[in-house]
Amino acid sequence: MAVTCEVALINSQNLSKGEVELLGKAHEAAANAYAPYSGFQVGAAVRLKSGTVVLGNNQENIAYPSGLCGERVAVFAAGAQFPEEEIESIAIVSPSPLAVPDAFMPCGSCRQVLREAELRQKTPIKIYLQARDEVVMVSKSASNLLPFSFTIQNGVFK
Ligand code: THU
Repeated sequence: MAVTCEVALINSQNLSKGEVELLGKAHEAAANAYAPYSGFQVGAAVRLKSGTVVLGNNQENIAYPSGLCGERVAVFAAGAQFPEEEIESIAIVSPSPLAVPDAFMPCGSCRQVLREAELRQKTPIKIYLQARDEVVMVSKSASNLLPFSFTIQNGVFK
């Protein structure tokens, strides 16, 4: 069985204006994160096929598991507000000094949610990941970030 994990590391100066704008919106969202317990802010910006951008950020709670990651807030908000629209791409960032500067790695649950979103819409979702550095990790599909994801095919769990 062939498994691919293709990601590119691109300096933000070499990204398109639209890509830089999406990352900028994710950084704006991160500034509004509610993360008083971890002190670790995450922002996400989902771009729909229509061009509409939906933001999300992490929302924590004193009953810790009650909170939610920034990228899932954004993906679920897009699903709630624009249920018929496909997601074209998502930028996920953390400007936090608590993050390593050169990478932001989404958690497994968020990868699972992104993967199911693209299986559901039958087109890949492009993912941009950035911490504080200029370097951006770009993946053409959530499948690169979560090979062997849990899924269901013809009523059979896999
Ligand atoms: N967090 C995210 O928002 N996205 C991830 O992919 C990883 C973790 C948040 C959850 C929590 O609010 C804080 O970062 C520390 O775990």
